[in-house]
Amino acid sequence: MELVRNPFFARLFDVCGARNEERGGRELRRELLAGLSGRVLEVGPGTGLNFPHYPVSVREVVAVEPEPFLRGRALAAAAAASVPVRVTDGTAAELPAADAEFDAIAFSGLLCSVANVPAALEEFRRVLRPGGELRFLEHVRSRDPLFARFQQAADLLWPHLMGGCHVQRQTLEAIGEAFTIETCRGFRFPPSADFSPVAPRILGIARKPGARR
Ligand SMILES: C[S@@+](CC[C@H](N)C(=O)[O-])C[C@H]1O[C@@H](n2cnc3c(N)ncnc32)[C@H](O)[C@@H]1O
Repeated sequence: MELVRNPFFARLFDVCGARNEERGGRELRRELLAGLSGRVLEVGPGTGLNFPHYPVSVREVVAVEPEPFLRGRALAAAAAASVPVRVTDGTAAELPAADAEFDAIAFSGLLCSVANVPAALEEFRRVLRPGGELRFLEHVRSRDPLFARFQQAADLLWPHLMGGCHVQRQTLEAIGEAFTIETCRGFRFPPSADFSPVAPRILGIARKPGARR
């Protein structure tokens, strides 16, 4: 199994990650998870910032977090969540789940960091039921060529400081290879962060082809 150990980044994220919640992050998480129901898999929950925003129509969340420090924080956040959340070890490319077990998969700020994006998306397809939804909130490569060049330069250093996070991935295109994109909007976040290489974001829904909705 891929080993995800980022003690420096994990502690930095724990301290600084919550800052963006006050700058509109909470609203984005609410939008990401709105309308979900049944059993949901969350991959890479970090400290569990999504947990308070699951609607009560969700029967259970299984949250797979490979980084030990963050998993500890997620466990504490799970205890305070309004829906049942079970936190467990695992990675995006090797999920501790049966075929077609979940009604939906949710993730935020994940595919920038996984080592093998196509393998992770293939694994998501395996554990999602036919017709099940993928909910994603990710930062991506900018469509502005000049900004994308800046991201390319930033990407030489960024992953070494930020727990393997890459700032110029074409994540929507990768999701579209494995799932049917239903909705997606692009925006900058935080809105005032003009020179942040992670400002270009996407938020959307994709679906695994299949009859059952
Ligand atoms: C930037 S943090 C985002 C945390 C959280 N999703 C959020 O929105 O606040 C990236 C998360 O992805 C996790 N991660 C990195 N590589 C992973 C992998 N291969 N499989 C599953 N999770 C992974 C990290 O441990 C971390 O929790």
